[in-house]
Amino acid sequence: MAFSYLLHLECPRCHAVYDADTLAHLCTCGSPLLVRYDLQAVQKQLSKAMLQSREPSLWRYHELLPVRSPENVVSLGEGMTPIIHLNRLGPKLGMKYLYAKDEGVIPTGSFKARGATVGVSRAKELGVKVLAMPTNGNAGGAWATYSARAGIEAVIVMPRDAPSITRNECAISGAKLFLVNGLINHAGAIVGRAVKAYGWYEASTLKEPYRIEGKKTMGYEIVEQFQWNVPDVILYPTGGGVGIIGIYKALRELQEMGWIGERLPRLVAVQATGCAPIVRAWQEGKPDSQLWENSRTIAFGINVPRALGDFLVLDAVRSTDGCAVAVSDDELLHAQATLASQEGLFVCPEGAATLVAAERLRQEGWIKENERVVLLNTGTGLKYPDTVQMTVPVLEPQDDLPIA
Ligand SMILES: Cc1ncc(COP(=O)(O)O)c(C=O)c1O
Ligand SMILES: [Zn+2]
Repeated sequence: MAFSYLLHLECPRCHAVYDADTLAHLCTCGSPLLVRYDLQAVQKQLSKAMLQSREPSLWRYHELLPVRSPENVVSLGEGMTPIIHLNRLGPKLGMKYLYAKDEGVIPTGSFKARGATVGVSRAKELGVKVLAMPTNGNAGGAWATYSARAGIEAVIVMPRDAPSITRNECAISGAKLFLVNGLINHAGAIVGRAVKAYGWYEASTLKEPYRIEGKKTMGYEIVEQFQWNVPDVILYPTGGGVGIIGIYKALRELQEMGWIGERLPRLVAVQATGCAPIVRAWQEGKPDSQLWENSRTIAFGINVPRALGDFLVLDAVRSTDGCAVAVSDDELLHAQATLASQEGLFVCPEGAATLVAAERLRQEGWIKENERVVLLNTGTGLKYPDTVQMTVPVLEPQDDLPIA
């Protein structure tokens, strides 16, 4: 039995096929490449029961991941994050079965660890010595961490305004870190020039095919955690879109293996009103998005003015009868406080945005009372210490608490 049933890389746009065992980036047509597996063989070799006895990490799905040899796996125990029933908040919002999948408890504090464990492992397997990437912070932190563990040198470029703790993660892990006075697309252009000049491995979002394979495991886990049934709606905070593309890919793979039926969850791409290129394209019925000028949001991970995989995000949303929703910074900050005070969940601003979208879609009747709704919280609020504003009374040692 093989550790991985990796077959080849395939272009979702022009269907060109590429060898998976040499370093590959985009298709010659400019599209990202997707990883394909021998799903028929996996279906014969693997059963749902076999999975049950495996470790609670995303590597439990190794047949459906691209690393051929277990000794190349670079892991910190990521995956199988909890799905928490919001049984206090949900009923108040008219949703009996509202859940949050909490990626805040994963190594490095965000779901970016999933892309990093698989992406870095595969890079190691293919002999990469130096990788370079632009990031909005969390991905850089995760890739720096896993690269350190793999013995790979990481070069990271992030906007100056990215959450400062992610700088610390990169620096302490020994990455070469640069800040740019600009946005992630500016960081991406700098990295693009550098990889050409120095021959480094380009690990930008969707420019290497393996990060998405790590992120798709959120889809496998959700289905497994619902006892191999699909929920009705999954809401995802969408920046580069890798997570939502990955979840959709996972669902299709499970369908092809006959592990789930025809019905898929409706996928909802949630963006911020200050940066909503996918929402605009979805509203206008366009197959891809336009650059969003002067983008701005406190939910930094979803401040992506134009995503390389925009057409794949829009396809995932449309093929599942989903939708795309933009929420304001004020609304998402309010939702962040609500989740913390009512459910004990200190989520990241990006994750909080999904609650606002769910609430709105419920009010509009798009979500029904008895539907099973999953909010994807992509990271912990602890990584954004400056987002919460408060004034706290300060006491002198001799003071009594001024509370009756
Ligand atoms: C916390 C958080 N949520 C969501 C996203 C958006 O991720 P994706 O590229 O999967 O759309 C990011 C990306 O930086 C992030 O850091
Ligand atoms: Zn192509």
